[in-house]
Amino acid sequence: ASILVLNGPNLNLLGTREPDIYGADTLDDVSQRLIHQGQTAGHHVLTFQSNAEYELIERIHEAKGEDIDFIIINPAAFTHTSVALRDALLGVAIPFIELHISNVHQREAFRHHSYFSDVAVGVICGLGVQGYDLALQAAIQQVERA
Ligand code: DQA
Repeated sequence: ASILVLNGPNLNLLGTREPDIYGADTLDDVSQRLIHQGQTAGHHVLTFQSNAEYELIERIHEAKGEDIDFIIINPAAFTHTSVALRDALLGVAIPFIELHISNVHQREAFRHHSYFSDVAVGVICGLGVQGYDLALQAAIQQVERA
């Protein structure tokens, strides 16, 4: 199966951005690990990061034509703002897991609401970048069960 991992704004800075919150691994470290884990399990993992809402929406629309079976998304700050990104995911009807590196519920009140959680298959947050590995494990189980 094909699994698309999407990362939103500022996650290109992973490894250098507020390392006490987000850790020392770079986004490239994380992506390479996921691609490798996918391969080992016999699945195709694709990754995409953008700081632009428009590009993330376009990538989700393209996923439909590419027969992507499952999406893992860290919408980053768009979690708390983007009806458009939510609508894109609902529009293509590809099941997804929402993921956050930090525990958003321990942080500022404006991070407590997500436009994605009620329509996600599941949500992972607060487990650091390990959350990506856990999300991929869960995604693989989901696609193998389908
Ligand atoms: C984040 C949490 C968001 O509130 C924040 O805007 C991010 C990253 C996380 O992975 O913990 O950019 O999604």
